[in-house]
Amino acid sequence: MRLAIRAAVAAGMAGLLMTAAACSSDDNSGSSSGSKNVEVFTWWADGGEKAGLDGLVAAFGTACPNDKFVNGAVAGGAGSNAKAVLASRLQQNDPPDTFQAHAGAELTDYIKSGKIQDLSQEYKDWGLTDAFPKGLIDNLTVGGKIYSVPANIHRANVLWGNKTVLASAGITKDATDLDGFFADLDKLKAKKVTPLALGKDWTQEMLFESLLITELGADKFKGLWTGTTDWAGADITKAINDYKRLLTYTNKDTRDTYDWTDAEKLLMDGKAGYQLMGDWEAADLDAKGFKDYSFSPFPGNAGTYQWLADSFVLPVGAKNAEGTKCWLKVVGSADGQKAFNTKKGSIPARTDANAADYPAYQQAAIADWKSNAQVPSCPHGSACSQGWQGAVGSAQGKFSTDGDVAALQTALVNAAKQFAKA
Ligand code: BGC
Repeated sequence: MRLAIRAAVAAGMAGLLMTAAACSSDDNSGSSSGSKNVEVFTWWADGGEKAGLDGLVAAFGTACPNDKFVNGAVAGGAGSNAKAVLASRLQQNDPPDTFQAHAGAELTDYIKSGKIQDLSQEYKDWGLTDAFPKGLIDNLTVGGKIYSVPANIHRANVLWGNKTVLASAGITKDATDLDGFFADLDKLKAKKVTPLALGKDWTQEMLFESLLITELGADKFKGLWTGTTDWAGADITKAINDYKRLLTYTNKDTRDTYDWTDAEKLLMDGKAGYQLMGDWEAADLDAKGFKDYSFSPFPGNAGTYQWLADSFVLPVGAKNAEGTKCWLKVVGSADGQKAFNTKKGSIPARTDANAADYPAYQQAAIADWKSNAQVPSCPHGSACSQGWQGAVGSAQGKFSTDGDVAALQTALVNAAKQFAKA
């Protein structure tokens, strides 16, 4: 279907329209190619992710009636399939009109390779410069130019629980430190359920990072990505050993093939007690009608918000640049952020949102975001480049099979050497 759409829009393609005019319902009269389509490329294909996208699409329909949303979603958690498809399309100079990119180092990859356009003028025209927190704007800016519009802020380091399963094992309150957590995992094991549901590479990376936050604290964890914390240190060796112990409580036979939603299903079906996952899980559980869940920061992570942000860009060569600008304006607007985030589990990136408009989980997250220390995530692009993400993900996958502590640490050291900023 995507091919058909591309063939249709390719017919009249006459290069990129570069006007800086702000869009509105009456000025988005199409592109130089004549296309009214806005192909939006994401990996939000199902459940809470699709519900969030649908919210944004509804707001786009109201604000940009002359343009047509075309869904370019490629399923697979954290963009595990989408990013490869996108890379190949960018390589062939066949970009979608806009695509989802994580704020931070991952976005910087696209900026440095010249794949996306400067939106600084649009920020001024649309009044966005003051709408977002300065730290987030810094993550979207390279060389004084700002390149994408953030849709949200997600939290990665959240522990989700099945309340009935936990209660049956005598757990009524989530542990706040690692010792307590291991004791609870033992109680779940005795009940013959999977204590901690887990999925493949990037989800393993998330679990390991949560453990690192517990063991290193926020500042030292941040230093792993900026070069001030040594990946070869004894504290990292200890963390890998604890992580190895944690893996013994997970679904060994299936973890390397499961996506996050498969692990989530173990939780929903009462076959697992806990799962570490980002807060898109809140939206997904809600979308699937599962209400019996608990949430808390991963044990030892209280006071630290591991953040990531989805943002949208204007690629070089977008076929309907004006329609895309209308999409981007909606993404950054108060209405767009509310329509999206109330369904997506994330909190609005804008600072002027009203917490009372949001479900219970997000109300708690909005409060935590204001008071917590903020640290980035590698698998979700705020901490590290795509090359670094890939290297860590495959090292993690290998460790899941061989459990070789020294080999994992060496791979992590080498990845940092290869990919860390000078
Ligand atoms: C994205 C989220 C998405 C999650 C799982 C993350 O990388 O930022 O929007 O819900 O992956 O697919």
